[in-house]
Amino acid sequence: MAYQNLLVEKKGAVGVITLNRPDALNALNKALMDEMTLALDDYEADDDIHCIVITGSAKAFAAGADIKEMQPKSYMDVYKEDFITANWERATRCRKPVIAAVAGYALGGGCELAMMCDFIIAADTAKFGQPEIKLGVMPGAGGSQRLTRFVGKSKAMEMCLTGRMMDAAEAERSGLVSRVVPAGELMDEVLKVAQTVADMSLPIAMMTKESVNRAYETTLSEGVRFERRLFHSMFATEDQTEGMAAFVEKRQPQFRHR
Ligand code: HXC
Repeated sequence: MAYQNLLVEKKGAVGVITLNRPDALNALNKALMDEMTLALDDYEADDDIHCIVITGSAKAFAAGADIKEMQPKSYMDVYKEDFITANWERATRCRKPVIAAVAGYALGGGCELAMMCDFIIAADTAKFGQPEIKLGVMPGAGGSQRLTRFVGKSKAMEMCLTGRMMDAAEAERSGLVSRVVPAGELMDEVLKVAQTVADMSLPIAMMTKESVNRAYETTLSEGVRFERRLFHSMFATEDQTEGMAAFVEKRQPQFRHR
């Protein structure tokens, strides 16, 4: 499929999606997000892909939802089309692991898209923010909720109320990103991490991701119960048999993803 606003490239078992609207700092318009849904659908359906990476350019992961596209909309427009939810949340429904590789601006919807991924690795040039309040609106794709869970109330509240940006070091300190790497090494490093994930058993990685995500959605005791049941179920997989046998036999496991 030929995309107008994305580049897609398979690197072994890693499916890379690069946002590609350079003239608009990768502002997220409907066409781009529709394509993102298709690209994620494709990678999810592709048995050869075990991990997905979403990235942007050196200057911008994405500078937010497309303000020029939003500007003429009325309340009725956004209400009737349920603006944002329809396809924006596709990344959160991915069952395979999804990593955000962020360099430059990740603002508004761009920061929200990065937070929908399973984890974020940032270049030292990354800048995160929820500047919507400066436009007379507020975050609309989960920013006020996910940022608060990532960095806590005080910092999230300050960022959403002032629109100030957080640099990569602050983002790492406050738990928004898993780590920061030099900008020139971002993609090499992220692809290495993605390949490491892709080399694990895919169903086990999917269940692991499901279990970590439960931590956000339920109580500790329910989450622990959920985790234990998933853990038990793994003993019905070939990959558990192989993984433990390989350890005992002092060799590398050959996971067959089942
Ligand atoms: C549409 C955008 C855009 C955006 C940048 N551009 N961000 N177009 N929507 N979000 C366009 C500019 O209009 C300009 O086009 C070109 O990209 C380059 O941008 P500049 O502003 O000239 O670049 P620079 O001076 O380097 O400033 C970079 C910037 C600034 C600080 C990131 O562009 C900026 O503040 N952008 C808006 C950030 C923002 O408010 N994001 C939140 C959006 S609301 P031309 O044609 O003039 O060259 C949102 C709501 C989400 O995300 C809610 C639910 C999804």
